[in-house]
Amino acid sequence: MIQTIHQWQNTFVEDDVFLSAKTVDDHTDKLTPHELKAIESSVAARQQTYSTGRFCAKTALHSMGLGHCDYVQGLLRKEDGAVTWPEAVVGSISHTNDWAIAVVTKLGGNYLSLGVDIEKIDRVDKDVLRHIATDEERANLESGFELRWGRAALFSIKESVYKCLRPLYGEFFGFKDVQIKNLTAPFTKRVQSGIQPEFYAPTVELLLPSLANCIDEQRIRIRLAILPSHVLSLVSYHRAD
Ligand SMILES: CC(C)(COP(=O)(O)OP(=O)(O)OC[C@H]1O[C@@H](n2cnc3c(N)ncnc32)[C@H](O)[C@@H]1OP(=O)(O)O)[C@@H](O)C(=O)NCCC(=O)NCCS
Repeated sequence: MIQTIHQWQNTFVEDDVFLSAKTVDDHTDKLTPHELKAIESSVAARQQTYSTGRFCAKTALHSMGLGHCDYVQGLLRKEDGAVTWPEAVVGSISHTNDWAIAVVTKLGGNYLSLGVDIEKIDRVDKDVLRHIATDEERANLESGFELRWGRAALFSIKESVYKCLRPLYGEFFGFKDVQIKNLTAPFTKRVQSGIQPEFYAPTVELLLPSLANCIDEQRIRIRLAILPSHVLSLVSYHRAD
C-alpha cells in the first residue's frame, strides 16, 4: 500500500510540497551521530519510527534539492519535540507502527508552516471522542450515517493542526481548542488515472481566543485522504495574499 501513495501524492499535495512515505523499518544506519544519540536508549520500535521518519524527511528534502550539507548535524529534535529543519524549510513528520511520512516545502513560497499526520483507522475508538471532540463534532459524527473513518480523521486532523500551528502560536493548545467542520467537504483537483483514495477538504474553526487572534483561520488549508486502513491528513498555513 505504501507504494500507492507515490501514485497519487501529486493529487494530495501541491507541486511545491515534497512528500515521502516509507514502511517503518530499521534505518538507524542512515542517522547522523547526533540523531542516533537522541534515541540510543529508546526501544527498538521507537528507533525504527524515528529513523524511518527521518529517512522520509531526507528523501523529501533531496527531492527539493537539499542534501546532507544543508543539515550536517541531522534533523534534530527541539525541546517541544518538533524537528529542526534546514534554514528556509518547513516540514512535518508522522508515523504509525507501520508507516512513516514526511512533507517539506521551502519557506518563502506559499507556505508558512505544515503539519502531517497518519493514523490507523481502527486505533481511534469511541471513548477517544470524549477527550478530543467538541460537543458539535461529536454530534456531527454521531448523527446520521456513521463514517467508518470519522473518528480517526478527526484525531488525525487535530494532530496535524497542532503540528502546523504550534510553531507559529508558540504555546500548547488542546484538542477542544479547535473545531473541525465539513469533514466530507469535496476536494476537487486534477485526478490522475489509477486507484485513488477518497479525498476531502474539511475546514477548521479556532475556538481558543488567543489562538484565533494569532492565526488567521482563512489561511489554514486541510487535506484528508482515506485509505483502506489509515487516514492521512495534511494541514498547511499560507502566506497572506
Ligand atoms: C506532538 C503530537 C501532535 C505528535 O503526534 P503523535 O500522533 O503522537 O505522533 P506522530 O507520529 O503523528 O508525530 C510524531 C512527530 O511529530 C513531530 N512533533 C513532535 N512534537 C511536535 C511539535 N511540538 N510540533 C510539531 N511537530 C512535532 C516529530 O517529528 C515527531 O516525530 P519524531 O519524534 O520521530 O521526530 C502529539 O504527541 C501531541 O503532543 N498532541 C497533543 C497536542 C495536540 O495534539 N493538540 C491538538 C490541538 S487541536
